[in-house]
Amino acid sequence: MPLRVRLTLWYGTALALILIIFSTILYVITARSLRDAVDQSLEETAAAAVRSLEERGFLPLIDETELMSQFPELARIDKFFQIFSPSGTITIRSPNVKQHEMPLSRQALEVAYSGRTIFESAKYPKEPPLRLISVPIIYRGNLLYIVQVGTTMDSVEQTLNRLLLVLLVSMPIALAVSLAGGWFMAGRALRPVDAITLAARRIAGGDLTQRLTVPASADEIGRLTNTFNDMIDRLETSFRQIRQFSSDASHELRTPLTVMKGETELALRRPRETDDYKVVLESNLEEIDRMTRIVDELLFLSRADMGEVKMEHLPVPLDMLIEDVHRQASLLGQERDIKVVLRATASAVVVGDELRLRELFLNLLDNAVKYSRPGGTVDIALTIEQNHARVSVTDRGIGIAQEDQSLIFDRFYRTDDARAHTKKGTGLGLSICAWIVESHRGHLEVQSKVGEGSTFTAMLPLAPASA
Ligand SMILES: Nc1ncnc2c1ncn2[C@@H]1O[C@H](COP(=O)(O)OP(=O)(O)OP(=O)(O)O)[C@@H](O)[C@H]1O
Ligand SMILES: [Mg+2]
Repeated sequence: MPLRVRLTLWYGTALALILIIFSTILYVITARSLRDAVDQSLEETAAAAVRSLEERGFLPLIDETELMSQFPELARIDKFFQIFSPSGTITIRSPNVKQHEMPLSRQALEVAYSGRTIFESAKYPKEPPLRLISVPIIYRGNLLYIVQVGTTMDSVEQTLNRLLLVLLVSMPIALAVSLAGGWFMAGRALRPVDAITLAARRIAGGDLTQRLTVPASADEIGRLTNTFNDMIDRLETSFRQIRQFSSDASHELRTPLTVMKGETELALRRPRETDDYKVVLESNLEEIDRMTRIVDELLFLSRADMGEVKMEHLPVPLDMLIEDVHRQASLLGQERDIKVVLRATASAVVVGDELRLRELFLNLLDNAVKYSRPGGTVDIALTIEQNHARVSVTDRGIGIAQEDQSLIFDRFYRTDDARAHTKKGTGLGLSICAWIVESHRGHLEVQSKVGEGSTFTAMLPLAPASA
């Protein structure tokens, strides 16, 4: 069932219940207070009659005209009275009750003998209901008469019937009007949801450039729209990254394959000396090594993406690790006449995986040496900053342009300067570095100027005990 129908139905049911309860209470209270008012006026009239009879010393009454002149309040047209003897027979009654006999009920007589007043309702066919009060007159312990005052409930019944009619007519109208209003409001409130559904369908169809128009209001719908747009933004970015990544990966793997294919074809064109074949095979082996490295690194990164790479969580003394890595990098630098200098060390322990941390620093130093000019210097320093170990690798090499600095951590990204500087490298090293630093809950930063050099800084949280 559509939400709009459901909302309207809920709303309608609740409103109908409220209206029914409200009307019932209104009707009952009105009926009760109208009837109470009638009873009260009967009681007052009867009390007046009794008082007059008392003033006359309870003399027997002669006839109704005398009675009427004695008790003007009994002459009111909306009331009638009867006076019964203790046996229950009528002695006198007012003229407006002459249509038919209205004997005293047995119950009224019994109650009169016990000296109490009684209210009764009576109903004769084809006449409005009556309300009666019967008051006993007792003198010196004897029941003298019973005074009965009555009135028709005509106007009360009429008022109640009219009230009922008004309620019965107005209730469905009110219900219908507010249901229509509810239907309209629900439709209005839900219209943006339909728009979102449509857009989501278009996006699901593959059009990731679609965005929803954000409504001006900052309500639930506005927030939903914004969240939805943010989600599509992220989807679009990651889709683009995946496409870029596969095209980069195939490209990186095709280059060595092309080289191998060309050299092999050339070698096979005519018979050659054994040494020539050896040269070709050696070159092919180099390309195979390169491809193996790319595939290994890709495998590592995709396993890291899926959270399948196991990481040790052991205390690692960074100072010793850095000294070790420094020795390794010095050998690396010697080949290209580049000095690697250990500027500072501090004793620092981090919790993590020693092999991965070694890979991190070696990657950074490899880059620093690779992108330095012959005869240059690479500095490495380990210092402590607040509760972090700070490892920085600084070179005075080719540097990185500002706009490239955020991209070099992407997979396969290599700057044009780097490509011109050296053919070695696939652009995966820094992605791996960033992943290692992040899995140690640290962060990796770069500061660089084109032509002047770069500094890569890894901030790693210290182990709790040494912090
Ligand atoms: N110290 C540096 N100086 C200048 N450019 C750098 C430096 N380190 C990294 N870069 C730039 O960042 C890019 C990415 O570095 P990354 O280490 O990921 O790849 P790579 O060194 O080219 O290849 P490899 O996967 O073999 O490490 C480099 O190609 C280069 O353009
Ligand atoms: Mg590298």
